[in-house]
Amino acid sequence: MAFDFCGRRVVVTGGANGIGLSVAQSFAAAGATVRIFDLPGEGPSAVAQTFGAQAYAVDVSDRQSLADAFAAGEDPDVVVVNAGIGRQASLLETSPDLWNRTLATNLTGAFHTVQLAASRMMHDRRPAIVLVASTNSFDGEADLIAYNASKAGLLGLVHTAANELGPYGIRVNAVCPGLIRTRLTASYFSKPEVIADYFRHIPLGRGGEPGEVAQAVLFLASDLASYITGTTLFVDGGQMASKFGTWNPASDAFDGQAWRRRQKQP
Ligand SMILES: NC(=O)c1ccc[n+]([C@@H]2O[C@H](COP(=O)([O-])OP(=O)(O)OC[C@H]3O[C@@H](n4cnc5c(N)ncnc54)[C@H](O)[C@@H]3O)[C@@H](O)[C@H]2O)c1
Repeated sequence: MAFDFCGRRVVVTGGANGIGLSVAQSFAAAGATVRIFDLPGEGPSAVAQTFGAQAYAVDVSDRQSLADAFAAGEDPDVVVVNAGIGRQASLLETSPDLWNRTLATNLTGAFHTVQLAASRMMHDRRPAIVLVASTNSFDGEADLIAYNASKAGLLGLVHTAANELGPYGIRVNAVCPGLIRTRLTASYFSKPEVIADYFRHIPLGRGGEPGEVAQAVLFLASDLASYITGTTLFVDGGQMASKFGTWNPASDAFDGQAWRRRQKQP
């Protein structure tokens, strides 16, 4: 679908890589003026230059760096709260440091971003905030307790912000991606036996690409979603609908990338 964001000002946190980069590029391709906020070590300026965006060195857990970046540009129409980290560790092995860093980036960083953004979006230019939550906002995937708690917390942020900002015309929604091919998930995608088992639980039989999340973000930020606020949109190939799994190794085949029916017709 071709979206039109001509004349719209968009900020994407964590826009130098993966899903955030695809989101930022998609907004730019749709005509928006795009600013990406990312860690200086990620080279956001060089990345932004490749598609005509601007970049600001920001650590979302450092409120002042975020405030400075917002203040350095015009007030945004769309803010995508995407910056995030995730490191695997079991409940018993999760250090207080890993817990604190994960929550500081994924949840407190999102709070800072939404609060600072909202104060600059009380205008009549159809403002919208989209958060990148996760299927892990809802489930309890093992060895990701800090990540899961941070992503579950985003639901409270979305609901409350939508409730309080609705009267100002600011819509607040979230996408909840499943397993998307980025560096965050490279350890999954590099092991065919792991993804064969994982994708068995995905009705579409495969993992997702960053551009497929970007399409959903652009939809929620667009006027097509003008009556949608306070909601979450799964972008997961149906994973959350597939409680006991979809694909059966006895009758289906995994080709290294995706599951397929051995016979198309029953
Ligand atoms: N890849 C997936 O399968 C998947 C699934 C569900 C949700 N998500 C979420 O999508 C978002 C993007 O993840 P991704 O897979 O593209 O990972 P990624 O590592 O490719 O990109 C994350 C980006 O966030 C930036 N970032 C991290 N900490 C930051 C901080 N403190 N301040 C500013 N920027 C920071 C990184 O530098 C990077 O550019 C994350 O919130 C992640 O939790 C990813």
